[in-house]
Amino acid sequence: MNQLRRIVRLKVNGHEHEVYVRHADTLLDVLREELGLTAAKRGCDLGTCGCCTVQIDGEPILSCLYLAAEAEGKEIVTVEALAGKERFSPLQRAWAEAGASQCGFCTPGFLMTADALLRSKADPSRQEIREALSGNLCRCTGFVKILDAVEQSAAKHREFQASENRSQTATEAGN
Ligand code: FES
Ligand code: FES
Repeated sequence: MNQLRRIVRLKVNGHEHEVYVRHADTLLDVLREELGLTAAKRGCDLGTCGCCTVQIDGEPILSCLYLAAEAEGKEIVTVEALAGKERFSPLQRAWAEAGASQCGFCTPGFLMTADALLRSKADPSRQEIREALSGNLCRCTGFVKILDAVEQSAAKHREFQASENRSQTATEAGN
């Protein structure tokens, strides 16, 4: 087998990294074993469970099927960066409040898929959430609480936006 490695530059969670990768190394291999970012989980390693989901250029992708070398020049985001400077993102808080995690193994993958959905659509229907998450599997929760969490997060985000808009309107009316 050809074990030659080459340098690849990866931008992960806003940080540039130079890593030596073999041709067949997947993004999941590099995230977990070279960069120490272990939130993306190795479940099936076959593209069927969604546990390894991260975002590339805003789209959820299965990092166990994505060659690390192909991610060069793209924006890679893992669940480690989901909350930014906060401890938890609104979606993660909704997850906790809804009881959407049990063992938690599937959670990072679900969060990355759900986050991408909510960024592309602020008010998805229950069916749209179900379809978006259909590639993510959970053995523990029965999915209902996961769907609840995404709905609750979307509703809170809309409330926040509406209140921001009201404040903006009030400020403009006062000027
Ligand atoms: S580990 Fe990638 S889809 Fe299961
Ligand atoms: S919470 Fe255990 S697999 Fe989903």
